[in-house]
Order: sequence, then C-alpha cells, then structure tokens
Amino acid sequence: MHFPRKVRIVEVGARDGLQNESVPVATATKLELIRRLSDSGLAHVEAASFVSPRWVPQMADHREIMMVLRDSPTKSATTYSALTPNMKGLEAALECGVREVAVFGSASESFSQRNINCSIAESLERFAPVVEHALKAGVRVRGYVSCVLGCPYEGEIAPAEVAAVARELKAIGCYEVSLGDTIGVGTPLKAKHMLEQVSREVPITQLAAHFHDTYGQALANLYAVLEEGIAVIDSSVAGLGGCPYAKGASGNVASEDVLYLLEGMGIETGVDLAALARTGDWISRTLGRPNGSRVGQALMASC
Ligand code: HMG
Ligand code: MG
Repeated sequence: MHFPRKVRIVEVGARDGLQNESVPVATATKLELIRRLSDSGLAHVEAASFVSPRWVPQMADHREIMMVLRDSPTKSATTYSALTPNMKGLEAALECGVREVAVFGSASESFSQRNINCSIAESLERFAPVVEHALKAGVRVRGYVSCVLGCPYEGEIAPAEVAAVARELKAIGCYEVSLGDTIGVGTPLKAKHMLEQVSREVPITQLAAHFHDTYGQALANLYAVLEEGIAVIDSSVAGLGGCPYAKGASGNVASEDVLYLLEGMGIETGVDLAALARTGDWISRTLGRPNGSRVGQALMASC
C-alpha cells in the first residue's frame, strides 16, 4: 500500500457544481460560496469558466467573479482557477488577473465534439498555444481529460486513449492532469487499471482524480487510486453538479465525504470538515436542492 500522507483537495463546486444548475445562481451567491470554501481551508478553489455564455449560461459572470477574487483579501492563501477552452477564454482570464487556468479535453471523440465542438486532435492543437501563452504570462495550467472510465455516447473508453491524451496535455505544458470520470460509471478495479496505464505516460505525482458519483462508486474508486499513490482529489461541496454535455451525470463526489474518508485514514488535507459541512448545508438550502453529501447530512443532523 502506498497511501499518501497528505492530499490536496481541488474544490470544483463553484464551477463543475454550479455550471449544471438550471436556475441562474446570483453572482453574489457564487462569491459567498467561494469565500466560505476558502475560509474552510481549501487551498485550491476552481471558481469560474471562461466559456461561451451560449453554451453554459450559468458561467456567464466569469469576469466579475474573477475580478472580485483578484482583489480578495484571501487571495494569497487560496488559488482561484478558471477553465479556458481557447485563446479567447485565456485572454479574458488574463485581463481579470487569473493566476491559474485549465484546458479541458476528452478521451472520447463524441464527447469532445459535444462539449467543445471539435475533435480530440483539434482540441490539443487549440490548447497548445493557450498553454504556451499562459505560461509566458506566468500562469499555471492544469489539464483535464474527460470520460476516462466511460462515455455517455460511446460507452467503454480504452485506458490507452486516456493515456494518450494525458501524455499530450503534459507534453504541451500542463503541470497536472486531472482524470475525469465525467458520468461516474467507474468501479475500483477499472479505475486502478486505467490509472496504471496513464501513469506510464504521466507520473502519478502529476495526476489528479476527478470522479463524479452517479453510480455511488466515487469513494470506492478514490480509495483504489489513493492506494496507487494519487494525492490530488477534485471534489464538490455538497456533491453539487453534473455536466451539461453528459445527460444524467450527477455531481462530483462530495468534498465532505472525501474529507471524512481521508480523516479516517489519517491523511492530512488542511481543511476544516465542520466548516465545510456548514457551507454544504448553506448552499444546498440556498439553491433549494437536497444536500448531496451523506457526511454533510449526518454532521448537520447531529449538531
Ligand atoms: P464554438 O461555437 O466552436 O466556438 O464553441 P467559436 O470559436 O466558433 O465561437 C462561437 C461563438 O462563441 C462566438 O460568439 C465566440 O465569440 C464565442 P458569436 O460571434 O457567435 O457571438 N466564444 C466565446 N465566448 C466566451 N468565451 C469563450 C469563447 N469562445 C468562443 N472562451 C467553445 C467552442 C469551446 C467556446 C464552446 O464549445 C464552449 O464554450 N464549450 C463549453 C463547454 C463546457 O463548458 N462544458 C463544461 C465544462 S467541461 C466539464 O465539466 C468536464 C470536467 O469537469 C471534467 C470531467 O468531469 O470530465 C472539466
Ligand atoms: Mg467534472
């Protein structure tokens, strides 16, 4: 067993979570959520997405969000990142003082077309100058690969396809590649097998797990990849979210549930679980949706 001593949580609720809410969420609510997440000790909060407002209307206030965060007093303690699928997105992000961005590709051709309107090869060609330009501006770039354990349109995805895209993202300059089980169909042995293949191309220290919880397997999958040495986990407070281009996909694994698992294993995160549970309860009530974190529900019921 090679469980890590520390895990870095990348909190994606304000982006991956909220992007899928059908009712517009007020910018002030998003900012309050981000402030609370940061106050709970999360060092990395993905806060916005510089994508087309026609494609994802919920992320249309990306400029305002990132400009407020640029001037936030907590900016030194927390990295606030944003998605940038192309040069237009990156240029806007740079104008707003964003210090870290992410490009997002896919291991499935069909998902790539539906999500970013181009093939996998075209997406990588598009990302290369985005990453180059960002790095020249002193901005770090994370890479995502979607559909690493299955695709809503193609079904099974070969681990070799995931490894190939991950390798390219690293080669163009991404400091870390986050492996997305976009529709939450993975199971632990499958996740392990995929990771074994990907880690032949990208060192495990540069990989992150980004698991959605549609089939209730995300925590088990995380345990399996932690055992392989994964030390970066993407999660979403209260299990918010889904993906607008993956019908039926539910939210990311809930951050509170991940923290509870890690605390039980003696793995440090630097995040205050009680504070995060209060934030999960608050945002669920504010959005009028059930709290998607079992741990959050249990903690709130016992206080
Ligand atoms: P396109 O239509 O091919 O782009 O979309 P285009 O270059 O032809 O431009 C079309 C229009 O979009 C133009 O406006 C552009 O200005 C505008 P018009 O002249 O028609 O008024 N446009 C933009 N506007 C704002 N920001 C931009 C931008 N780029 C072009 N950056 C594009 C291509 C990538 C823009 C589009 O497909 C898009 O926005 N897709 C977003 C998809 C998305 O956000 N999906 C969810 C995030 S990914 C995810 O959730 C998975 C992840 O969590 C990991 C996992 O779970 O697997 C990361
Ligand atoms: Mg996602």
